[in-house]
Amino acid sequence: MKGNQRNQLILKPFFIFISLTCIFLLVISLQSHVRNSTTFQPLVKQPLSSHPAGGLQIRSGFSSYDKYIQRQLNKTLNPKLRKVWITRDWERKIEVFARFFTDLKRKNLLSNDSKALCVGARVGQEVAALQRIGVSDSVGIDLVPYPPLVVKGDFHNQPFRNATFDFEFSNVFDHALYPSKFVGEIERTLKPGGVCVLHVALSRRADKYSANDLYSVAPLVELFQESEVVHVRTVDGFGLDTEVVFRKNTKEKEKQKQKSSHQNQPS
Ligand SMILES: C[S@@+](CC[C@H](N)C(=O)[O-])C[C@H]1O[C@@H](n2cnc3c(N)ncnc32)[C@H](O)[C@@H]1O
Repeated sequence: MKGNQRNQLILKPFFIFISLTCIFLLVISLQSHVRNSTTFQPLVKQPLSSHPAGGLQIRSGFSSYDKYIQRQLNKTLNPKLRKVWITRDWERKIEVFARFFTDLKRKNLLSNDSKALCVGARVGQEVAALQRIGVSDSVGIDLVPYPPLVVKGDFHNQPFRNATFDFEFSNVFDHALYPSKFVGEIERTLKPGGVCVLHVALSRRADKYSANDLYSVAPLVELFQESEVVHVRTVDGFGLDTEVVFRKNTKEKEKQKQKSSHQNQPS
């Protein structure tokens, strides 16, 4: 065998090995590029303003509605926690809520004549606060009732007729598995001209009982289809940092809105 042929025979497997390795590395790098650019995007590392889904993300891990409800009940029915809520926490929370509601009264967003609902009120300190400052026709709903302050009800399907309330307050938006139903039910049960006050956390993630993460006010504004924003301000409310207030459109305003959206449609 000539030297040249022998060299070729020795080098051939080496070149095949190098080529296969290159193809393997190329496939791996393409796969990882596709994965990064389509599905997996770590939540915390992104700037909040450019967060996927416009700043609202439903958490995974609730495989059925029953599992979601069960997760909520596990905490709300915990006997040790319930004892703390109705003893140590009771007065402290009423005082903080009363300050928020007094401020809303000063801004003419709430009055003693308002019929008020607190959504996700647990043992009802917010209801007790409303009553203490003179808003006597107030009640709460929660999965677990706490009579007489809180009646049983799922906020995805409120147990009230259309246009029942002048004022609704909630600090549990993050517990909504279906945010559009949560908001839709508030808008359904508010009277035209009624006010909804939400306390939400934009700058921190809540505990494992939350069902969604909100990163900006924009998704809320989009969800409230029959209302206008009254104000957005920073607050310090039991870990929640932002107060967003909406007013449901009057019938007149809603008619005008529909008329102008028809006019703007291409004929
Ligand atoms: C963080 S706690 C807030 C309690 C109360 N607002 C407070 O500040 O003391 C959340 C509450 O939302 C209630 N909740 C969760 N999912 C609910 C649902 N689908 N319908 C009604 N209440 C719900 C829970 O039972 C729990 O009492």
